[in-house]
Amino acid sequence: MEWKDEYSVGILEIDDQHKLLLRSFTAIEESIRLDQGWSNTHYAILDLNQLARMHFTFEEAIMHMFGYPETEAHQNEHQQFFSRMASIERHSLKKSAEVEMVQFLRSWLTMHILGSDRGYAKHIFSGAQVVRSVREPLVHIG
Ligand SMILES: [Fe+2]
Ligand SMILES: [Fe+2]
Repeated sequence: MEWKDEYSVGILEIDDQHKLLLRSFTAIEESIRLDQGWSNTHYAILDLNQLARMHFTFEEAIMHMFGYPETEAHQNEHQQFFSRMASIERHSLKKSAEVEMVQFLRSWLTMHILGSDRGYAKHIFSGAQVVRSVREPLVHIG
């Protein structure tokens, strides 16, 4: 699955992480297409799962930091991805499940990047400020 410029959310770090996710997904696709065996495919699935975990944690931290109002709904989408991944990991032995898995991952990643991830990026670019603590900062300059 090729990265396209239209996938950019305008935040370099996020785009870089999304590129890694797509590369990892491509490894799953390739493993299946080239019939590289169950172990290889399973390893690729675990890799995507781990990358997704890091990436989603990063995104959720940013959303909290900038007070994004849709944070909870977005977190739910991430959670649904993991639920589906858990069932994929259990069923990846079955050849019949592979086509469905690839279709799910492809459409989920595309829709999420083009849809939900744009939401928090738009919020940040609209001038959102970092949520400040109620207390005064401990360090005063001057
Ligand atoms: Fe996300
Ligand atoms: Fe994302």
